[in-house]
Amino acid sequence: MASSLKCLVVDDSRYQKAFQLFLERSSEHQCMQDFIHNMLPGILASVGDGKSHLNVIGVGSGAGEIDLEMLSELRLKHPGVKVDNEVVEPSSTQLHNYRVKVSQKPELDYIKFTWNKMTASEFEEHWREKKITKKADFIHMIQMLYYVKDPGATVSFFQSLLDKNGKLLIILVSGESGWARLWQTYRNQLCNTELSQCVTTGDIRSFLDSKGVSYKSYELPSQMDITECFTEGDEKGELLLDFLTEVLDFSKTAPPELKAGVMELLRHPDCSVESNGKVIFNNNLGVIVIDQLT
Ligand SMILES: C[S@@+](CC[C@H](N)C(=O)[O-])C[C@H]1O[C@@H](n2cnc3c(N)ncnc32)[C@H](O)[C@@H]1O
Repeated sequence: MASSLKCLVVDDSRYQKAFQLFLERSSEHQCMQDFIHNMLPGILASVGDGKSHLNVIGVGSGAGEIDLEMLSELRLKHPGVKVDNEVVEPSSTQLHNYRVKVSQKPELDYIKFTWNKMTASEFEEHWREKKITKKADFIHMIQMLYYVKDPGATVSFFQSLLDKNGKLLIILVSGESGWARLWQTYRNQLCNTELSQCVTTGDIRSFLDSKGVSYKSYELPSQMDITECFTEGDEKGELLLDFLTEVLDFSKTAPPELKAGVMELLRHPDCSVESNGKVIFNNNLGVIVIDQLT
């Protein structure tokens, strides 16, 4: 990362605003919802092997929108089941929003929530220190592995918590997305700090292949309207650019050549398609599912 640039995630409030705008400008949650309602039920069918009590761990749950949809599919597949749900989320704002949502839904009384305001590695430490032997039936990490120091080690730790017939679900941007193209070109100048890294499902698949871990993978088509990024001085465009580059105030702080190069690549056919005056960025997601067969 160029030394003058600061990582977006150091400013939690701006990061949350940028993430919210990204959700509004992209089909991210829609495409995840399609996956959750159409494909996840089949994936969850064999989870738990007939148990009446399932342990779930959500890592980097945000405000819980996606988690709650997955939990409701789990309940539909396994009616009558009780759920113990560990939520691992370091942002107090996000955790608070998640708790508020839960408090407004009395129908979730079959779920016992445990709120862990901590990072994935703090959770790992806590789990090891307390010598907890509980195993999990379903663990998910949706769009969060960018924020851990060692994504491979994080996947391995959570995989080690799976019970027989348990599943670990990972969603990240796909190795075929515009994100991957952007990172292949500007990884060193933009992100790849201790706080945030440019990891795709392509990287996780290579890691799992190297360890001989078998998994299933899926590609979810998704788009993001980045047209505003090309209007100089547009506030929302600048916020989106911060999200895309993961750099705080990218427009104002990036060296001119870097900014010009990024802007050119963002509208290049490798990253986006242009139609009807709009620039539509390839936000395809990748899904990886690891099964604990034994
Ligand atoms: C892009 S958001 C995804 C939120 C949610 N899973 C979704 O898809 O809507 C990433 C989340 O990971 C959380 N996070 C950041 N660093 C983390 C870490 N080291 N361990 C666990 N979660 C982390 C952030 O606070 C944020 O809520």
